Formats: sequence, structure tokens, C-alpha cells
Amino acid sequence: MSAERQKTRAAAAALSYVENGMTLGLGSGSTAEIFLRLLGEKVKEGLDVRGVPTSQRTAEVATENGVPLIDVDHVNRIAITIDGADEVDGRFQLIKGGGACLLREKIIAHASDLMIVMVDETKLVSTLGKFPLPVEVDRFGFSLTAGHVYDALRKAGVTSPDVQLRRKGDGLEPLVTDGGHYILDAACEAIPDARAVDQALKAIPGMVEHGLFIDLARVVIVGEDGDARVMEL
Ligand code: 5RP
Repeated sequence: MSAERQKTRAAAAALSYVENGMTLGLGSGSTAEIFLRLLGEKVKEGLDVRGVPTSQRTAEVATENGVPLIDVDHVNRIAITIDGADEVDGRFQLIKGGGACLLREKIIAHASDLMIVMVDETKLVSTLGKFPLPVEVDRFGFSLTAGHVYDALRKAGVTSPDVQLRRKGDGLEPLVTDGGHYILDAACEAIPDARAVDQALKAIPGMVEHGLFIDLARVVIVGEDGDARVMEL
């Protein structure tokens, strides 16, 4: 079955967690956009929810689908954040940020009572790290910061990291996030200790946020052939 259909199965299953009156964190990426389309249909049928978008793109897609939005600074409680991921391991540790939205995604997930992650089967891994780890950094001194990111990864047990500035589709201009930062993609092959990497990266001045989500997701929904598998911690 195609990844697209598995994502749709996962998104449909995530919808069953949504209740009338909830404030929702709205994730970013293709799976989150499928979820928004399905959520929009429920809103048209009378479901009363409001969403806090984690990217400009998500805000646009939510609006196109009729999902009401609320300003993040007018919210004091978010019931559920529903988002995709680039990798998920057996402890529900995630790599996110393939879509360059990791900073806002992590702020909103952290402020939510529950984070639900929707993925297709290809995202499940035994050890994180095949997908390059996105690290959002201030633009000032980013080359220096990249060197510190390399050192921190080595110190945290990654044997030969390769840290590259993410560029736009043209391959020339650096990609700039919604928050005005650059992204460094750190190819690691394997991340043996996600917590050690988290701690090491957090010690770097200029490191704004990284794409390891630890102790945030409590529900992972995997779209599969025929159905969706719901896993809860
Ligand atoms: C964006 C993300 C996305 O959730 C992640 O890249 C997965 O995307 P998709 O649902 O398109 O596979 O972290 O920053």
C-alpha cells in the first residue's frame, strides 16, 4: 500500500481523539495536511474546535479547509497536538523537522496535554538516526555553530556525523524557517543515545532547537494495510 494511503488511515484514526470544544495543536507536513482535510470535513458537519498552527503553511491549509484558528498568544491550554514525524522509535522518541517546522512544533507539543503522532510504516525504526537530524540555529555565526554541533554529536556517541546547511530547492539559497533561522541537517547514521545528544546540543550558543522529540509523544498511530495501529505509552 502507498505511504499516502497509510498516512490517510493514520490521520482518520487520529480524528477519533478529537472532541467538541477542544483547542488543537496543528502539526506540519503532508500527514498533518491530510488530517486537516479530514478535520475540515468534521468542522463543516458542526464540530466546534480551534487550532494553533505550527507553521505558516499549516495556517494556510487549515484556513482553506475551514478549520478555525486561534492566536498562540491567546491560548493557555492545548488539549491535543496532532502531528507527523520523520522517525519514531520503540520508546516513542521522534526525529522531526524534515519540513523545517520543528521549533514551533516542539513549542506547541510541549504546551499540549497530549501529543499524537501519525505515521506510515516507513517511519518506524529500531534506532533513530537514518533520517538526518535537523538542528535549527541562529543565522549569526552559523558556520561556528555547525562546528559545535559536529563536536557535540561526537561527544554524545555519534561516530561520524556530517553537518550540512539546508538549502532551498534551488540548491543555492539557504532555507530560512518561519522563525527566521537556518537549519543544519546532521546525518548521523545512528543516534545511540538521544538524551545525550539532546543535552549536548542544548549547551551550544546559537542552537535554537533540535528535531529530537523525547518524552512528548504518548500516542503513535501507524497507518497499515487494511487499518491503523494505535500504540499508547
Ligand atoms: C515537519 C515535520 C513533519 O511532521 C515530518 O517531516 C513528517 O512529514 P510528512 O508527514 O510529510 O512525512 O516534522 O517539520
